[in-house]
Amino acid sequence: MGKILVTGGAGYIGAHTVKRLVQSGHEVVVLDNLSTGHRDFARFADFVLGDVRDPVILDSLFASRAIDAVIHFAAASQVGESVRDPLFYYQNNVSGALALLGAMRKHMVNTLVFSSSCAVYGPPFDGLLTEDHPIAPLSPYAATKNMIERILEDMARASGLKYVALRYFNAAGADTDAEVGERHLPETHLIPLVLQTALGQRERLEIFGDDYPTPDGTAIRDYVHVLDLADAHISALNYLQKGGAPRAFNLGNGQGLSVLQIINAAREVTGQPIPVHMAPRRAGDSTRLVGDATLARQTLGWAPNHADIHDILATAWAWHQKEAACLPQSPRPAAL
Ligand SMILES: NC(=O)c1ccc[n+]([C@@H]2O[C@H](COP(=O)([O-])OP(=O)(O)OC[C@H]3O[C@@H](n4cnc5c(N)ncnc54)[C@H](O)[C@@H]3O)[C@@H](O)[C@H]2O)c1
Repeated sequence: MGKILVTGGAGYIGAHTVKRLVQSGHEVVVLDNLSTGHRDFARFADFVLGDVRDPVILDSLFASRAIDAVIHFAAASQVGESVRDPLFYYQNNVSGALALLGAMRKHMVNTLVFSSSCAVYGPPFDGLLTEDHPIAPLSPYAATKNMIERILEDMARASGLKYVALRYFNAAGADTDAEVGERHLPETHLIPLVLQTALGQRERLEIFGDDYPTPDGTAIRDYVHVLDLADAHISALNYLQKGGAPRAFNLGNGQGLSVLQIINAAREVTGQPIPVHMAPRRAGDSTRLVGDATLARQTLGWAPNHADIHDILATAWAWHQKEAACLPQSPRPAAL
């Protein structure tokens, strides 16, 4: 396969995927407006600063580079923010996807891998979520992912678009060389917050809800290593290149871990006490979200290489320690 356009390639999952693509011999161009991404994360490939909603930038990008396929990560992705400002989410995520699809059609690029989310599923469920589970997005963010999936389905039917939508569970961990990692500002994801607490950057970690109907009362999620997600995008491109049928796939480890289990594993990995504080549940948080990725394993030939939570935490810990070492030190108090 020739050149691959990666939108959102300066973000967390995008940067890991770009590095993996380049390592496996692909030519990559990144388009990112750096709204939540970082310029230093995009250093592995040709970088274009721009907004995916901008048809002029898209037109010149497709006209000037021989792009064969697109991986579309670019999106705003905070559930709480989407509840407060749904219009921005529909504009950024849905209009962005529409502009991209329009440019792809104009320039006859027909292959797309799309970052979807397990957030499209509802209602709460105690078992493993398969791709057939009812779709019922609870937030505007999740609704944007579902709408884009619908658009892709319709375009596949009407014009033969070749696409794969990857429904990630919770991305976690970092590059094993600690060249890139998780740097969300503000940070809302559990593992970085736990590790920032281990580093003393936060006094304590808030646990939102210890009265869920789970063995220890805290919510359960499925954590999947970001490098395993990155590999899945390459598997998805290969699948489409071989004529695989357009469809959505779950990407998770199928292993549910509670907030307290994550904190205890992080205490083991970091050797730090990690003080916690119990807070009430947050509106909209599910009790349990754990995925069945059998379809991705069987159809894409994908298999996670870093399923152990200690491995996930160790790579994230190495990255966060490196990031902390680069932070400006607060001046020492003057000696009396
Ligand atoms: N992190 C997770 O656990 C998770 C889970 C499910 C789905 N996802 C999806 O995966 C994708 C990547 O997530 P992430 O955690 O790496 O987020 P991220 O915020 O680190 O990366 C998103 C990137 O897209 C860029 N971007 C956003 N809007 C843009 C626009 N209009 N034009 C150009 N660039 C734009 C941002 O600057 C950023 O670099 C998102 O689509 C997200 O919804 C993430």
